Formats: sequence, structure tokens, C-alpha cells
Amino acid sequence: MSAQYDSPSSGGASPSVSGHRRALAVVLAAGEGTRMLSRLPKILHKIASRAIVSHVLDAIGAAEVDSIAVVVGPDRQDVAAEVHRAAPGASVHVQSERLGTAHAVLAARPALEAETDDVIIAFGDTPLVQPQTFDRLRAALAEGAAVAVLGFEANDPTGYGRLLLEDGELAAIREHKDATEDERAIRLCNGGIMAIAGAHALSLLERVDNDNAKGEYYLTDVVAHARAAGLRTTALIAGEEELQGINDRAQLAAAEAVIQKRLRLAALRSGVTLIAPETVFFSFDTVLGRDVVVEPHVVFGPGVTVEEGAVVHAFSHLAGAVVRAGADVGPFVRLRPGADVGTGAHVGNFVEIKNAKLGAGVKAGHLSYLGDAEIGAGTNIGAGTITCNYDGFAKHLTRIGEDAFIGSNSSLVAPVTIGDRAYTGSGSVVTREVPDDALALGRAQQVNKEGWAARVRALHASRAKNRS
Ligand code: UD1
Ligand code: MG
Repeated sequence: MSAQYDSPSSGGASPSVSGHRRALAVVLAAGEGTRMLSRLPKILHKIASRAIVSHVLDAIGAAEVDSIAVVVGPDRQDVAAEVHRAAPGASVHVQSERLGTAHAVLAARPALEAETDDVIIAFGDTPLVQPQTFDRLRAALAEGAAVAVLGFEANDPTGYGRLLLEDGELAAIREHKDATEDERAIRLCNGGIMAIAGAHALSLLERVDNDNAKGEYYLTDVVAHARAAGLRTTALIAGEEELQGINDRAQLAAAEAVIQKRLRLAALRSGVTLIAPETVFFSFDTVLGRDVVVEPHVVFGPGVTVEEGAVVHAFSHLAGAVVRAGADVGPFVRLRPGADVGTGAHVGNFVEIKNAKLGAGVKAGHLSYLGDAEIGAGTNIGAGTITCNYDGFAKHLTRIGEDAFIGSNSSLVAPVTIGDRAYTGSGSVVTREVPDDALALGRAQQVNKEGWAARVRALHASRAKNRS
């Protein structure tokens, strides 16, 4: 036992004067996830429109951790880029060979060498952990434990490390492959998330060897090493749902189900009506105001805000869009990135909107494509209106003023501007600017041929008579 175990403060890693305990989180993300059968590394697969690893980083961020170190596999620029997006302050470390979880933590050695009170270790493929759970682990360290481990009662413990208790205290963790028959009967499993007192972290990790069934450096061995050094170790219990990891597509779908359940509950608790919650799918960042009503079978992609009192009717798909207060959209509406539906506006069935701003009170009731457009307040968009925004090379803008009236089945060939209070006749192809208060007619003149139908009918009747 080294002297520093007896006087943890001698290493300088004691709580700061203010009482705030400094924390470093190490996230292990060096696994490839071969069971996903994917070109994409496992932790970049998404649940609720966000990469698995980023959910872990979000939870850690919300737990007020001071620094984050993420361990990635060699040549994983894609993982590093996602980490930088989700947690810009995080340091990224490369584990060049996959020699086990303790070895992976040590890949973040520069981060571990900085003074800290708590070291939290989380797995990048366990995205359902809640921020409060990290706080619980840290509280155990604050109360004097050197190692605190999160355990759960597994329905099927196969494959997990088992928590071995002695007199109610955590004595060791035995990996499934190394466990005896008796130990395998234990259902209390290691959830994989652990906290180690900063003063002891490096020396405990360095004691781990690879003398076991897998020939790996097991992180879980730090428990036995801590006990041998006379340090306190403890296990906290969390729900299996929170600790379930993702190794294959079935577990990916199971995690999606858990996160959707949470997001639906959060929406309901914030004053949103979901008529059939189990049919609505949210993104991690969906923002819904009070008294929003979401009808059944609605899918929210990333970046959607629906303001107070707005209604999203059934079978709609929204991504990167804003629906302002009191507006209603759908059923069967598609709002794509850049769609901005103004206050009190009405967007009806089979309307697709992309990168288009609709002012307050705009009505687009039926069957339209509005892309790359600005539409002034109070304007009515007739059924079947199309903004022809693409010429095969570039996208162009359609500008429509306030209180205008676009006749049904108008094709607005961009770039084009239609003035305030202007009309376009139904079926018009509008290629030139329409001034304020004008009517644009861009269609063939109607010609009536008097008596034509009667003459044709008579001709056919006489031919039929001659044949019989
Ligand atoms: C681990 C635990 C086990 C626990 C289980 C919970 C160990 C030795 N075992 O087992 O007690 O019940 O998680 O899910 O810790 N990783 C690396 N580099 C490596 C090895 C792993 O970054 O060299 C990462 C993986 O990407 C993954 C995590 O560490 O995110 C866990 O590794 P994994 O091989 O899945 O460990 P398990 O066998 O599941
Ligand atoms: Mg695993």
C-alpha cells in the first residue's frame, strides 16, 4: 500500500476551497460494435436523432462535470468530430490497441494526471444514463468511498460482470467469463459506470493486469485493488433500463423505445397534449410550448420548435422547422429544414414546405410545394401552388407580399416577386414580377366553340346507326 492511500489530500487532489468537487469524466468509445453489422461505428448510430455517444456526453454535461476525456479507436476522425460537436471542450484520446477497459481509461492519462476530486468512467454505448445518476456516484465519493460502482438486477445476467458483496459492501467484480458457477448465479450486475476518487485513480488503474479469461485489462479489477489497499468501495443500484447498453440493432431499437418514452413523458409534463403518445416520435431537441396539441402519428426530426397553442395534426413529419404560436399544420404535412410557419397560420394537408417563411395568418390549405420562399402576412396560397425553385443548377427565391391571393394551381417560376395584395389567376405560370394590387394571368385564353359538343355527339350517333 502506498503512502498516498493513507493521506489522500497529500496528492493535492482535495475538494476546492469553495466546496465544489472537481470532476473528470472519461468516456470509453473505442469499440467498433461489430454486432451492428454496419459501416458506421456503433456509437455514431442515432437514437432520437442524436448519436449514441452524444447522449452520454449530454448527460455528463448536465451533471456539471469540469472536464471530459473521450477515448476513441485509431483512425476514428468521424467519432472525434462528433465528440467535438457534442462536447466542444472534451479532449479526445486514442487507444491504439483494444486491450480492455482499464487500458482504455489509461489512454486518457494526460487528463487523469491533472488534479481532480472525482473521476467518472462511462461507456460510450450506454446512452440512457441520467445526469442524477452521475451525481449519486459522486456523492458516494464525497462520503469517503474510493470507488463507487453502479449495479443493477439483471433479468438475464449472462455476459455481465457480477458484483460480489461481503457484509453488504462491494468486495470485487467478477467478469462473466471468469466467474464460478456460484458467482454466475448472482443477478446483481455491473452497469459499467463507476466513479473513482481522483487521488487514487491512476495508481489503482496501473495495478490492473491482464491475467484473466479474456487476457484483457479489466477496469472492474480496480475494486479488488482498492479493497486490498484498505480503501472503501461501494455499489449503488440503478434501474436496468438506465444501464442497458447497445451492442446490436435490437438493443438500438430497445434504447430508442426507452428514450421516446422519456421524451413523451417530458412533453406531457410540460403542458403539451399528445392524444396517442405512443405514436409520436421526438428528436432529442424538440421544443414544444404550452398547450401545443400533437395528434397521433407525428414524427419530429431534429431542430423543431412548436410554439404555444399550435396544433400539429395527424401523420405529419417535421424537421428543422418552426411552427409559431396558434398556427396549425397538417394532417399529412411535411415541414423540412428552414420552414417557418407564422403566428396563426394554417397549413393543410399534403403541403411540403422547405426553407420558406410564411408570415402571420398565411393560409396554404392544400397540396402545395413552397420551397425557398418568403410569403407575407395574410396571403392565401391556393391549392396546388408550386414554387418552381430549381432550374437544374441552382435554387431561386419566390417573394410574395402581404394579403396576396395566389390562385389554385399556380406555378411561380423563381426568381420571381409578387406584390402586396396582388392576385394570380388559377393555373397561371408566373415568370415575371407582379406589381402590388395587380392580377397576373399567365395561361392560355379560354375559347368557347358554341354547339361543338352537340355536333360531335350527333355525328357519333349517326355513325352508330349506320353500322347497325
Ligand atoms: C463491461 C464490464 C462488465 C459490465 C459490462 C456492462 C469490464 C471488464 N467489464 O463488460 O463488468 O457488466 O461492461 O455493460 O469493464 N472499450 C474500449 N477499449 C477497450 C475495451 C472496451 O474503449 O479496450 C469500451 C467499449 O467500446 C465499450 C466499453 O468500453 O464502450 C465496454 O467494453 P465491452 O467490451 O463492451 O465490455 P463488456 O464485456 O460489455
Ligand atoms: Mg459491452
